[in-house]
Amino acid sequence: MNAVTARAYPNIALVKYWGKRDEALMLPAAGSLSLTLDAYATTTSVSFDEAEHDRFDLNGVAQSGESLRRVTRFLDLVRERAGSDARAQVVSHNEAPTGAGLASSASGFAALATAASAAAGLPDDPQSLSRLARRGSGSAARSIVSGVAVWHAGDGDATSFAEPVDAPEMHMVIVTIDERQKKVSSREAMRLTALTSPFYEGWVTSTELSLNAMLEACRDRDFTRIGRITESHALRMHAVIQSTDPPVRYLSPTSVAVFDAVVRLREQGIEAYSTADAGPNVAVLVQPGDADTVARELAEYGRVRAVGPGRGAHLLPAETA
Ligand code: DP6
Repeated sequence: MNAVTARAYPNIALVKYWGKRDEALMLPAAGSLSLTLDAYATTTSVSFDEAEHDRFDLNGVAQSGESLRRVTRFLDLVRERAGSDARAQVVSHNEAPTGAGLASSASGFAALATAASAAAGLPDDPQSLSRLARRGSGSAARSIVSGVAVWHAGDGDATSFAEPVDAPEMHMVIVTIDERQKKVSSREAMRLTALTSPFYEGWVTSTELSLNAMLEACRDRDFTRIGRITESHALRMHAVIQSTDPPVRYLSPTSVAVFDAVVRLREQGIEAYSTADAGPNVAVLVQPGDADTVARELAEYGRVRAVGPGRGAHLLPAETA
């Protein structure tokens, strides 16, 4: 059968998702909000065939073990919905360093959901794709959407999807400090946080408040408020992660130095705000006109790249596949 190819980009959350209320359905403990980037794409082709097993090739390497099992579990959902038992060949190319906190699972499952849905003839409206992508990796629900996306906690599977939010144009300067795979996955650390952190309930409640404040700031197109909420929310997430038993710490001394450098940039009148996901790399939120200056200022801390808002997951025409 012919392969169907889709492309998706990672997203960086300004209000973070950290904790699930239902692991089987991948329902988050609270809603979140992100910016889909226009860099570090994942391009994935899916074709169903008569083979005995699913095959998953990532950046030219045939996958086995947990990496393959995760894709097979996801494809089982697609097969169940399509009433088919055909196995799939999945060929994926990821431009971001996998597993280093640059949200490769978000672009990965958004691209896989989009390509597999098309290959299996499933609904291709953004809500269905977002709900499906969520089952692969929570944050993937948001990479279905272009630019700024809110992922609703919802009250069940049908209502927990991401959709676009009107917001001022924002860019990010990504400071890559360490490309190595992180030692504790976000999924594992999230579970540990819910189970062992004495601050978990406060984190969930305050995330709901941060999300409401963020949605209001987006509506008002108030970049300063968006940035302040982004930075303090990120630090809160890292605080609750560090409060687990055993403790997990993703930020390195260099990550903290970047947060400090960004505070100094603000003191000099350049509006920039830091955030970081489950890894040491830092994403700095800026207005489009400041991206080059901020990238120059932060170049001493790691590899810097200025990125803008990107497109949600989409199919590629057959000839480019
Ligand atoms: C820190 O979406 O990778 O990037 O749902 O278990 O696959 P699973 O986790 P994942 O976690 C993302 C965590 C985060 C915050 C965010 O993107 O909102």
